[in-house]
Amino acid sequence: MPDTTRPTSARHSSSILVTGATGNLGREVVDRLQARGLRVRCLARRQLDPRPGVESVAGDLTDPALVRSALAGIDAVFLIWPLLDSAPAHDLVAELAITAPRVVYLSSTAIDDEAARQSDPIVQVHADMEALLHDAGLRPVVLRSDTLASNARGWAAQVRAGDVVTGPDIARTAVVDERDVADAAVTVLRAHHDHLDHGPYVLTGPEVLSRADQVGRLGAALRRHLRFEAVPADLARSRMLADGRPERLVEALIAASVCRPESNRVTDHVERLTGRAAGTFARWAIDHASEFS
Ligand SMILES: NC(=O)c1ccc[n+]([C@@H]2O[C@H](COP(=O)([O-])OP(=O)(O)OC[C@H]3O[C@@H](n4cnc5c(N)ncnc54)[C@H](OP(=O)(O)O)[C@@H]3O)[C@@H](O)[C@H]2O)c1
Repeated sequence: MPDTTRPTSARHSSSILVTGATGNLGREVVDRLQARGLRVRCLARRQLDPRPGVESVAGDLTDPALVRSALAGIDAVFLIWPLLDSAPAHDLVAELAITAPRVVYLSSTAIDDEAARQSDPIVQVHADMEALLHDAGLRPVVLRSDTLASNARGWAAQVRAGDVVTGPDIARTAVVDERDVADAAVTVLRAHHDHLDHGPYVLTGPEVLSRADQVGRLGAALRRHLRFEAVPADLARSRMLADGRPERLVEALIAASVCRPESNRVTDHVERLTGRAAGTFARWAIDHASEFS
């Protein structure tokens, strides 16, 4: 494999655009780029709090004029696509093709390269995005991420209220610490283009976990007996709708819980990119325990 860890010689003058910069993963990417003295521009609908070396552009990824101005002077882009439809991405990809920065796209390990259609709408969007970026000649570096450990933050209110976490019983996955994904992203964002293996990298944690396994490990970190209780899809749907989540998102999440097959794949790609083995969910839970009390 080529030396992806060799940084570009001009790294100190590189400007990197981070999309989804207010999100669980994007925040970690921004922190790491800033700590390495790179110039960072953030794009999200909300402004980030001002900080040295970090510019913030507020607006929607589907707004081509905003994307154009956000791309001015940018060498590399950390790209996420948080929408449930890839059609509005055509304008963004066209803007990327004009300025042609290095693109690192955050995709999903659930993509089945052999399948004509993916298991559910969320995975389909990632497959469509990868194809759009390739077809535009952008040669993206694709990081396919497994379930982010930070998704567990969605359980915080239930954990504060009692010992039972309920939800749809999603298939087991090799949950990956978002800090490892951010470290991997920073490696490829800084790498010299000539030395880049464009992937797809498959970023997983070290063990395959059910939601019940995760809740158990979270309980151990909190020194409590927490347990997971799976609820049927219909009940999960009505609860999510009652919480005010958009119907389309709810349907996509239900489809993912019902249709996405179990993945037993554990890779060493985090280690290949970061030089360190991927962290466990138990470690993540210990490091984030205060967020649940
Ligand atoms: N979570 C997982 O398990 C997982 C697994 C594989 C891949 N991924 C991919 O990784 C991405 C990041 O995950 P995450 O957990 O960090 O998500 P997250 O915490 O929900 O963050 C999503 C980010 O996207 C921004 N955003 C949402 N809609 C936007 C729009 N229309 N225009 C501009 N910005 C928008 C949000 O910012 P504002 O709300 O402030 O605008 C936020 O910064 C996901 O969107 C998904 O595509 C996630």
